[in-house]
Amino acid sequence: MSNQQELSTKHLLGIKYINADDINLIFDTAVNFKEVINRPIKKVPSLRDVTIANLFFENSTRTKISFELAEKRLSADVVNFSSSGSSLKKGETLLDTVNNILSMKVDMVVMRHPAPGAHVFLANHIEANIINAGDGTHEHPTQALLDAFSMQEKLGSLKGKKIVIVGDIMHSRVALSNIYCLQKLGAKVKVCGPPTLLPKYIDTLGVEVEYDLRKALNWCDVANVLRIQLERQEIKYIPSLREYAQFYGINKELLDSLDKEIVLMHPGPINRGVELSSDAADSHHSIILQQVENGVAIRMAVLYLLSGKRA
Ligand code: NCD
Repeated sequence: MSNQQELSTKHLLGIKYINADDINLIFDTAVNFKEVINRPIKKVPSLRDVTIANLFFENSTRTKISFELAEKRLSADVVNFSSSGSSLKKGETLLDTVNNILSMKVDMVVMRHPAPGAHVFLANHIEANIINAGDGTHEHPTQALLDAFSMQEKLGSLKGKKIVIVGDIMHSRVALSNIYCLQKLGAKVKVCGPPTLLPKYIDTLGVEVEYDLRKALNWCDVANVLRIQLERQEIKYIPSLREYAQFYGINKELLDSLDKEIVLMHPGPINRGVELSSDAADSHHSIILQQVENGVAIRMAVLYLLSGKRA
């Protein structure tokens, strides 16, 4: 339960910039919205007359649909923009693109952008509430919120719970946001992956490193498994995907051979046969589809609470 009635910030730029009370307030609000989206009539009028622009300068399926659904369930007016086919290709700057959109009286901006920190830049220049839907390899706050919310739903309070994040820690924005979020909620966090996919600054994040996947899985309550971000790797960090799967891939046989039952998560999209085999991804360990359902409720909560901070 949160001790706050409202968020401490008017933007969601990253988990780094919010506190545990903010996170708990978002969770409490998401519980209510989850109930709403399971009703026969899934819509509430909370954001009527609020206009939201979804600006996606990078590919997305899940996150974009999830935000759009959340906005529509809250009765907001929604405009969508994606960089392919836009004037960005003609050389327009980010600030000019966004200022033009804001001239059309947009109140909130949900943005995915390849440049880390693009959202901080925007928040310094425009009045609208800014929500980070992923900034390059940096943060993906709503993903971390929905991940932690799904873990809490399954396990109760995360205080003292053991979470391992497996895979491409260096290039994954989900990893960094998860680390910040889980630590703020009192969980113990380990990371596990090949040394070449762990960032050099990992020691500064207060997480332990375990290179042995079996040991990591035997330690944890939850394994949050990440995709190898091949599109962000300009050089080869692993010899081959086949070798990666051999050392860091999780299959049902491995799960069944552990000392205890663990919960398996993945933000999607899954590369089946690489980080997860199909029999693991579709097993009773997995809460991957619950994560997706919770994503809509979490994003409704974030949008609703931030809209209350519009000055
Ligand atoms: C993640 C992302 O885009 O960072 N996916 C998502 O938002 N559902 C993870 C990924 O692309 O591997």
